[in-house]
Amino acid sequence: MEKDSVLMEKIISLAKRRGFIYQGSDIYGGLAGTWDYGHLGVALKNNIKGLWWKKFVDDRRDMYGIDAAILMHPGVWKASGHVDTFTDPLVECTKCKKRFRADQLEKAGICDSCGAPTGEARNFNMMFQTQVGAVEDSSATVYLRPETAQGMFVNFKNVVDSFHPKLPFGTAQIGKAFRNEITPRDFIFRVREFEQMEIEYFIRENDWEKQFEYWKDEMIEWMDIVGIDQSKVHELEVEKEDLAHYSRRTVDFEFDFPFGRKELYGLAYRTNFDLNIHKLEYVDEENASKMTPHVIEPSFGLDRTVLAVLLSAYNEEEKEEDTRVFLKLKPSVAPVICAVSPLLKNKPELVGKAEEIFGTLKKEFGRVMWDDNGNIGKRYRRQDEIGTPWCIVIDFDTLTDNTVTIRDRDTGSQIRLKDSELVGYIKDKLN
Ligand code: GAP
Repeated sequence: MEKDSVLMEKIISLAKRRGFIYQGSDIYGGLAGTWDYGHLGVALKNNIKGLWWKKFVDDRRDMYGIDAAILMHPGVWKASGHVDTFTDPLVECTKCKKRFRADQLEKAGICDSCGAPTGEARNFNMMFQTQVGAVEDSSATVYLRPETAQGMFVNFKNVVDSFHPKLPFGTAQIGKAFRNEITPRDFIFRVREFEQMEIEYFIRENDWEKQFEYWKDEMIEWMDIVGIDQSKVHELEVEKEDLAHYSRRTVDFEFDFPFGRKELYGLAYRTNFDLNIHKLEYVDEENASKMTPHVIEPSFGLDRTVLAVLLSAYNEEEKEEDTRVFLKLKPSVAPVICAVSPLLKNKPELVGKAEEIFGTLKKEFGRVMWDDNGNIGKRYRRQDEIGTPWCIVIDFDTLTDNTVTIRDRDTGSQIRLKDSELVGYIKDKLN
């Protein structure tokens, strides 16, 4: 697949200009691998999280939510194998001393920056360390979690004791994870601080193949829900020698990003590795005996979801005078559901009526924007760029017959509706 750095530049620039995503600590020159979400980016992320939680927790009877602490006892990471094996191969250029991830060099053993040979690869642990309490010796060292998963495993007994679930059942968590990536790159694709949405689904061992297929289908369904272009998604059966230390089978869902085909999500069969290492058991009511459930783990990166959603939604349409850019976001995902505009902002009667309609819609949908800047054409373009599905304009006819125009983002077509019908019209479309 050809790399499309122009498209990536367009997405990054739009994200910044329109208030979705900014470089972290920008006014201090930035901090590599960190990005800050602005007003529209937070809304987009919250919508995605909400849809995920609805599908995988609220709409099910067998899923239990967790929001574990980011700082965990270091013993967790010793037991899980992360202290010893959560590493990437690091190489240093013999000449310019720049550091790279060995498996990400354009040419093996050659510095991407100056072309000199690199030194031998060594294992670099990706966990961030920090100190708890007032002492600064090694006994106080803790790690920022590199995955949300362990926060769920260590709460396994709590969930069982509180809710007495029968197998199969799962736990779900959305939260931050931290990895000291050697080469963070590609916008929000590979960052040092990111969010994961993960499920640990506890099963009987002999069910694992069936459950694996079931969760694969669930993940595909999820991508449809948020509007990820399925024609760009590919399943990759991870080779035995590339499997994580805990996994017996992993399928990666890869996405055709402009910088190449890369991992979007992962689905792993973690066996009973995690519950075993934490010495956790379950009393199986079926035969009143103790056993250690096995685990299927669908893991979703939230930031990569945001990027895949933006790339799937990005559209350009050639017009006579210029190019119209619009984000074809699903209304359930779009940061703004509709924008309300008075045709002219210096006519108090139009503004008054528009305020009234804005108030009603805002109360009903929340994600509603007031937009009276520039002419109507400019407002449409601005809303198109942030993916607002509908623009509502209050004009002089509104004052006599209570009808407004509602313009559709994707087709640009407009219809007139009674203002009293607006809420119902948008609700229908949202469903
Ligand atoms: N609990 C399993 C686990 O953490 P992983 O494949 O290492 O597995 C899961 O990570 C997902 O987290 C990835 O598929 C990706 O979506 C996201 N992810 C991992 N590292 C990331 C990074 N540095 N930046 C952004 N997202 C990342």
